[in-house]
Order: sequence, then structure tokens, then C-alpha cells
Amino acid sequence: MSSDLDLEQQLLAYYVSLKTPIPEGGAEWNLSPEHHYLFGFSTRDFLYRNCELLPDMRVCNIGIGMGDWDDYLGYWLHKWGTLTSVDIDENLCGLFAYRQKREQHSNPSSVVAEDILHTSLPAASFDLVTIIGSTTHETGQPEAAMNISLKLAKSGGHVLYMGTTETAPESWFKDYLKHLTCRVTHHENFTYYSGPQGVPSHWWKMVAIPNFNYHSEVEGYAYLLEKP
Ligand SMILES: C[S@@+](CC[C@H](N)C(=O)[O-])C[C@H]1O[C@@H](n2cnc3c(N)ncnc32)[C@H](O)[C@@H]1O
Repeated sequence: MSSDLDLEQQLLAYYVSLKTPIPEGGAEWNLSPEHHYLFGFSTRDFLYRNCELLPDMRVCNIGIGMGDWDDYLGYWLHKWGTLTSVDIDENLCGLFAYRQKREQHSNPSSVVAEDILHTSLPAASFDLVTIIGSTTHETGQPEAAMNISLKLAKSGGHVLYMGTTETAPESWFKDYLKHLTCRVTHHENFTYYSGPQGVPSHWWKMVAIPNFNYHSEVEGYAYLLEKP
């Protein structure tokens, strides 16, 4: 159990890491248009346009990471319902809960630190379950992670999945869907950076600014599934 002083120091390190120039994860990726497009805009916009807010809505997000998505879900749900955020990393969970408290989030998550593959959360208890980015594959068993997401959703509830081609091609999800009886209510591809404006990534890398990592050719794919 960390003391508040430890958590303050960890929180400072967290804020600093957002702006630290480590490749594939620090400022360079966080500030890139590709990151903002996929995570900052498209996925939130997909939720906003396609998911209906319900009174006393119960939402679960699997995989907290930086926690930006959970922050957004909490605000989206504010005055409507509650968010449960699950992550296997206990330290990350503690820091996320503390950050939300320090930042005075108006609808903070109930944080559950556990492996989603062995979750203690009751089946059929959420109106919406979300699992985005690399989380499915970070579990080491992406199909099992999806099965559990569906198990946690109520009958008639939904699962929002968003993946990027940096983690896995969309074909893995299409193959996974073949074994399901769920209805896909919405599906969108986020293709703006699938090759920036028709200019191949190697051109950007070789001719434009050789040392800058453009994370080019990153596509996203989002699905909203309805559980029967
Ligand atoms: C890249 S982050 C999640 C992305 C995040 N939703 C976002 O968009 O910023 C992946 C998270 O999944 C968590 N994770 C990996 N395996 C897990 C498991 N088996 N159960 C729960 N969480 C897991 C990791 O600890 C990590 O925080």
C-alpha cells in the first residue's frame, strides 16, 4: 500500500512521462496527430455517436493504461451512471485512482486491480463493456479477453472494441466474429493515417524528416457488438 507522499511522487513521474521523449510511448507518440486521431478523437467520437446513454448505466473498461479513455468515459457518463475500470497492474490502478481523486474527476471510476482473464466481476452486469487499443493482445489471449468482455455485458448490452493495426490486423477480429452470434450494430475504420494523404510512409521517413517517427500507416477499427 503506497502512502500519499509516494503517490504524489509517482503522480509527478506520470505527468513527466507524458512529455518524455522516449520512442513509442512518450511525448513523441502522445503528441502525434496519429495518436490524437485514433485515441483522442475517433474512438471517443465513435462512442459518442453510436452508444446510447441510459439511466443508471453501468459501464466497464478493461485496460486502463494512461487512463485517458477511462477519464473520458467517466465524464461521458456523468449524471447517468458509473464506470468500473479494470487493469492487471496494481500499481497503475492505485495511481490512476489517486490521480482521479487529485484532479477532482466528477465521476471517478471504481478501480478493480485484477487479471481480466480471471475476473471476479459478475457476469451479465454491465450495459457497456469497452476494450480498446492493445489490451486484448496484452492479455496474451485476445479471444478469451473478448469472450470475457461479452460475458460481462448484460443481455441486450454492448461491447465496444477498438483495435489498431500496430497491434493486430483487422482480420483477427473478423475471424473472431465468425464464431459469434452477436449482432454488429456499428463498425467503422479509422483510415486517415493508413498512408498519410496517399504519401507512403517510407517517403516521409526518407525524404521529409528522417529522424522523426511518424507512426505512419496506423489504422484503427472499431466495432460495437450487441449481446443477444
Ligand atoms: C495500452 S494499455 C490500454 C489502452 C488504454 N485503454 C488506452 O487507450 O490508453 C493496456 C493495458 O492493459 C492492461 N492489461 C494487460 N493485460 C491485462 C489483463 N490480463 N487483465 C487486465 N488488464 C491487462 C495493461 O496493464 C495496460 O495498462
